[in-house]
Amino acid sequence: MVNTPRNRTGRTARTAGWASAGVAVALAGAFVVLAWPGPGSDATAEAADPDGDALVAGSVCEAQRLKARAADDPQLQIEIPAEFNGLWPSLEACESHDAAWDEDAPGPMQPIPFSHKHHAGQFQIDCQYCHSGTDRSRAAGVPSVEVCMGCHAQFPPQYDELEGIRILRQHWDEKRPIEWEQIHRLPEYVKFRHNRHVAAGVTCQKCHGPVEKLDKLYLVPDTQWWPWALPTAKLEMGWCIMCHRENDQQASQDCLMCHY
Ligand code: HEC
Ligand code: HEC
Ligand code: HEC
Ligand code: HEC
Ligand code: HEC
Repeated sequence: MVNTPRNRTGRTARTAGWASAGVAVALAGAFVVLAWPGPGSDATAEAADPDGDALVAGSVCEAQRLKARAADDPQLQIEIPAEFNGLWPSLEACESHDAAWDEDAPGPMQPIPFSHKHHAGQFQIDCQYCHSGTDRSRAAGVPSVEVCMGCHAQFPPQYDELEGIRILRQHWDEKRPIEWEQIHRLPEYVKFRHNRHVAAGVTCQKCHGPVEKLDKLYLVPDTQWWPWALPTAKLEMGWCIMCHRENDQQASQDCLMCHY
């Protein structure tokens, strides 16, 4: 299924420019610091079994996984060839990459295995850095390829080991937008504006669930048990109205407020 892009580029691309430069500089700094061979870099050579029955890494991600296993189990014999003995991509990047492309996890398969848990959770990149429309306009929008590349253009070439990074670069080279599968979508006859809700102090998580803990996004069901009714499914009219009734009628339930 191909999406019709709705407010998915434009605004986000223009507003994120200055901010991405700052983060990119910080990231480039991190790579310089972390690229120095640490005290651990000789230890792996010692761990290799001279008899040859050690587990041998065939990529940086495999090396990261073997190192993590060896840290738990000092008996494990591992061998990390020099070309794979890097710090990047990190173990978390390798694992999030695979988890975001787990076919059995709920939610649609996206064209790139992008993880919110890693970007918004571990690295604490602000939601609005990528969804910069949320406090200003009706639609939240998803970031353009330029926003991604503001950081990823600085990444060392070892990251090309991750298929998701190769696909990202390919879109950048071909100047092609990424066709993300949309998860939350209201029918055209409903009026909904992000900026009004964000300004009223409703958190993203209240409506979208614990996004920063998820590698792969899906429409998280609302588990809140409303005192006067059955739980409602998200994006249904009842879900909107239930919340509008909360806090002593915090928002109107007038039909014409939500319908044209
Ligand atoms: C503010 C900087 C920044 C921006 C913007 C950014 N990334 Fe990342 N990305 C990172 C960092 C940092 C990592 C993790 C590196 C590591 O741990 O080795 C990462 C990791 C990844 C990975 C590996 C799997 C994962 O999710 O951890 C993919 C794929 C990826 N990014 C794609 C994207 C895409 C697509 C976009 C745009 C929608 C994007 N990134 C925007 C900084 C950024
Ligand atoms: C580095 C960029 C980046 C950051 C930071 C980020 N997102 Fe996203 N977000 C994306 C991309 C790319 C997609 C589309 C792919 C997907 O659904 O995973 C997306 C999709 C979403 C969606 C689903 C949109 C739909 O299709 O219905 C929601 C909801 C969302 N993000 C909320 C958040 C929240 C809440 C935060 C902060 C906790 C956040 N995002 C932080 C890049 C980002
Ligand atoms: C009051 C509930 C509510 C809050 C709060 C909320 N959202 Fe949404 N979000 C929605 C609904 C409903 C949709 C579907 C909108 C539509 O189809 O017009 C949506 C759609 C999205 C999308 C997909 C938009 C697109 O253009 O594809 C993203 C991304 C998103 N929200 C991110 C966020 C972020 C980030 C925050 C916090 C800054 C946030 N939302 C706060 C209810 C909410
Ligand atoms: C988690 C609580 C919550 C949910 C869920 C929620 N709203 Fe709201 N909504 C609010 C609050 C709080 C306000 C009051 C904002 C203000 O006073 O400016 C509001 C105000 C509004 C307004 C009036 C302001 C404007 O944008 O003109 C509309 C329209 C609206 N909501 C539509 C919706 C729709 C449609 C949905 C469901 C798809 C929804 N809301 C879901 C909390 C919620
Ligand atoms: C707070 C926002 C909100 C208010 C107020 C609201 N609606 Fe809705 N309505 C929605 C949303 C969101 C949908 C689409 C989701 C769904 O079908 O449940 C919807 C869908 C509908 C539908 C189509 C249902 C279908 O199955 O096709 C009708 C008819 C409708 N509303 C009538 C009304 C009437 C009449 C009122 C006033 C008594 C009203 N609505 C007030 C948000 C609202």
